Amino acid sequence: MSDIQNKIEQLLNEVNTTPIQDASALETFRIKFLGSKNCLKPLFTELKNVPNEDKKKVGLQINELKNAAQTVFDKFKDQLSNETVDKEEIDFSRPGEPNTIGARHPISVIRKEIISIFERIGYGVSEGPEVEDDWHNFSALNFPEEHPARDMQDTFFVEAGDEEMALRTHTSSVQVRVMENSKPPIRTISPGRVYRNEAISARAHCFFHQVEGLFIDKDVSFADLKQTILFFAQEMFGKKTQIRLRPSYFPFTEPSAEVDVSCTICSGKGCNVCKYTGWLEILGCGMIDPNVLEAANIDPKEYSGFAFGMGIERIAQLKFRVNDLRLYSENDVRFLKQFKSAF
Ligand code: PHE
Repeated sequence: MSDIQNKIEQLLNEVNTTPIQDASALETFRIKFLGSKNCLKPLFTELKNVPNEDKKKVGLQINELKNAAQTVFDKFKDQLSNETVDKEEIDFSRPGEPNTIGARHPISVIRKEIISIFERIGYGVSEGPEVEDDWHNFSALNFPEEHPARDMQDTFFVEAGDEEMALRTHTSSVQVRVMENSKPPIRTISPGRVYRNEAISARAHCFFHQVEGLFIDKDVSFADLKQTILFFAQEMFGKKTQIRLRPSYFPFTEPSAEVDVSCTICSGKGCNVCKYTGWLEILGCGMIDPNVLEAANIDPKEYSGFAFGMGIERIAQLKFRVNDLRLYSENDVRFLKQFKSAF
């Protein structure tokens, strides 16, 4: 056997025995036998020196070698790509892709909870506009002309054509609309965003959220109001929660009260959250002033009722122990993520 035939045989042997376990071994194989500078090329050059009578035979042998290399390459390429696909499809032990779904905003979480508590005792939900006229935000609610809440310092006024409108300062405005548009018995709560012209700090913001409630029927008494608030407080903060009513003043209710709950942290023993009083203020309430019923064409001799209003941020603050109001509107994802498991 001539020199060149020896080489061909050696290479053929190598083609058939080279171990190819992975993509990089396959690539090394391709470069060596099929690449642009493959090891078969010098054989073609050498072929010129082969005696004429052997040329055809040796030429064929080189071609066979080339074909064998191509066949081996194709076979392993197929095999390796199948293996990768198979692995991806059947490896159930691979950890799942992290699935980042959003979290509910803490204000939404608490709003939902407040609504669901009142829905359980027969309240419906009503909504109204955030840009209000003077009548619905103030006058119908028995605010005297010169009441300081109408002052520029508390209210954002908006010009809307000829009329001066305001960004509602409370959702009691929605209750006026409900009283105007429906007949007692009325049982409704109005959740929504309200605006007040306040300097932004940890304890105050120029907008926040409220849920206000309204109950009108025949013979509604202060005892009904107290029991409703107690039910709410115990559903929201736990069965052992106590309430305390302190006399207060609102233009639209008479008598009026502010309600405290026993401290959710120390249960009344005294801690720095309740400033060692054992109590935390959560809402304002009272019996609807007859003037307010009259303004909405409801006869105060036939009907009576109560109203209450609370800030959602305040309840959220007590539930989640957040002590800076500004966090609720900064939308820092690190803050928002913490409420993922709340609901
Ligand atoms: N509207 C009052 C406020 O915004 C809350 C309130 C509602 C008080 C109903 C009494 C009765 O502060």
